[in-house]
Amino acid sequence: MVKSNIIEFSIFTPSKSVFLTSTASRPAELPQDLVAAIAELKQAKQAVILAHYYQDPAIQDVADFIGDSLELSRQAAQTEAEVILFAGVHFMAETAKILNPDRTVLLPDLSAGCSLADSCPPEAFAQFRACYPDHFVVSYINCSAAVKAMSDLICTSANAVSLIQQIPPEQPILFAPDQNLGRYVMAHTGRPMVLWPGSCIVHETFSERQLWALKAQHPAAEVIAHPECEAPVLALADFIGSTSRLLSHVQTSPSTTFIVVTEPGIIHQMHKHAPHKQFIPAPAQNGCLCNECPYMRLNTLEKVYQALRDGRPALTLPETVMIAARVPIQRMLDWSRPAAPLPPVLAS
Ligand code: 13P
Ligand code: SF4
Repeated sequence: MVKSNIIEFSIFTPSKSVFLTSTASRPAELPQDLVAAIAELKQAKQAVILAHYYQDPAIQDVADFIGDSLELSRQAAQTEAEVILFAGVHFMAETAKILNPDRTVLLPDLSAGCSLADSCPPEAFAQFRACYPDHFVVSYINCSAAVKAMSDLICTSANAVSLIQQIPPEQPILFAPDQNLGRYVMAHTGRPMVLWPGSCIVHETFSERQLWALKAQHPAAEVIAHPECEAPVLALADFIGSTSRLLSHVQTSPSTTFIVVTEPGIIHQMHKHAPHKQFIPAPAQNGCLCNECPYMRLNTLEKVYQALRDGRPALTLPETVMIAARVPIQRMLDWSRPAAPLPPVLAS
């Protein structure tokens, strides 16, 4: 493990949105068959539904595309649909809007935030960044549009290692906001990085002790984990990857039982793609449902229907923020193209 230059910068704002109730009012009437009604609306409005793997199974099942953050960004960049309904959280819909400023991007519940994005307030991040003027700023996509606008490069959990490897070795790097992913990337690239001390409440709920107990109960099971988990938990994992990588791994691995250390929404697709295998969700520390992302759960099939029907809630962002944030997002998409030549890196 590379020794990091971690700055203690104790500005952590617990998520505001987790305690909020839905911003969407309940429709007076809902159709009997919501799935059919959503399909009709999609056609009538020329809409596409992009859904993250952490969404409820019912939402995943009406989506045109299900993916991890990187794949969803790629889909958002490519789609020709007039309306993009993003079944995910706010930063994901923001990314779609930044890539499609002239299209309507709907988020079924606007209060579906992200504790990791909330752990990096833009004003505090601006001060932090100013302490490292010569550093290349790499931000995990789980951050606000305002933080993206202050970044040189965006990454996701699927491409973080390969993108960091493309940065010239002499270039110092500041990585935000997830310190757990940052440490994982440092360990796999040998690159020291200054880390913003943010984290995800869902992935930090998994404990080493409970994982040991689960492993003892299921000795043949393979432990698969998302890199947002803390280092002691990752140390117990047999395989670490983004949600998409975890999904493809369970299909190719000879193992038949997996302990899944990430948000359990992904297990819906695991069951579909590897129906004869067993998936055990890693429990939260105190037996609560804290291993489920409370923000992702704010979206429901009813709200998906309502958003498509009414054309709201729609994402809006200041033009200046979108212009600035598009640069590091586009850079990520360009650098992540397998066949693309490596671009020169300039710290801004
Ligand atoms: P992925 O990059 O695997 O989609 O992860 C997104 C996320 O929010 C994990 O908590
Ligand atoms: Fe954010 Fe964590 Fe939920 Fe992912 S699981 S959306 S990082 S709060």
